[in-house]
Amino acid sequence: MTAVAGTPAAFRAACDDARRRGLRVGLVPTMGALHEGHLSLVDAARARASFVAVTIFVNPLQFAPTDDLDRYPRTFDADLASCAARGVDVVFAPAPDAMYPPGFQTHVAVGDLTEPLEGAFRPGHFDGVTTVVAKLFNLAGPCVACFGRKDYQQQLVLRRMAYDLDLPVEVVSLPIVREPDGLARSSRNRYLSAEERTRACAIVQGLRAAWDAFDGGERDVRALTALCRAPVDAAFDAIDYVATRDPETLAPVDRAQERAALLVAAHLGPTRLIDNVVLGEEPRP
Ligand code: PAF
Repeated sequence: MTAVAGTPAAFRAACDDARRRGLRVGLVPTMGALHEGHLSLVDAARARASFVAVTIFVNPLQFAPTDDLDRYPRTFDADLASCAARGVDVVFAPAPDAMYPPGFQTHVAVGDLTEPLEGAFRPGHFDGVTTVVAKLFNLAGPCVACFGRKDYQQQLVLRRMAYDLDLPVEVVSLPIVREPDGLARSSRNRYLSAEERTRACAIVQGLRAAWDAFDGGERDVRALTALCRAPVDAAFDAIDYVATRDPETLAPVDRAQERAALLVAAHLGPTRLIDNVVLGEEPRP
């Protein structure tokens, strides 16, 4: 039976109670519209913890006024059914007012790591993410928290936040889950028309081209980035970035070392997709 906690107090009580019973808490923060990517995080949490909590909250703080907050998919009944089928112990699904009551004015901000890439194109986004996740970590208490690597910069930022603030949370990052044709699973994929869905695969084609070149010995970042960019340029309506960066700091690099993160954000009509690969790491995307 999956319990539903609608208030922060009820969620805290459920996690405290689990720990009192000797269980380790595994936390999977989400914004709902759950797909196999999220459910792989649930499985990863289950492998590490005996009490699994999923949070479902479309966090208004991480959306800019021009972002897609209103059209972000909300599929709570289906999400709850997926959580129940996966053996989730508790789903925390608060109303926005419960997370941000009137007068709310405290924010958590991580420094340099939030500046480039997503931070440059979505000002304020990471402050919204770190603020809500700090609250979720605080409510869940000591736990292992599982995040997907599709949001590559996000998982680095959240790991940094947990470390810097001595939060009793082990942040674990799990591999990207892809469709059979390679497209990274995303709640936003459902916005794509059939024609856009085909064009969307250009990102993984670019990532594969760079991954193969790296595997063949190419280390020049301009060359690797250009290989990835070419198909994205041809298929997408606009590109925010295609960038090869240090995999830990996201600082620009001229030559890739043993590993390098190659990250993409691009638009198909009103839909913005992100994806990435760490060159020098299996699996090939
Ligand atoms: O990755 C997401 O879905 C969100 O950014 C998160 C971590 C649940 C915070 O709202």
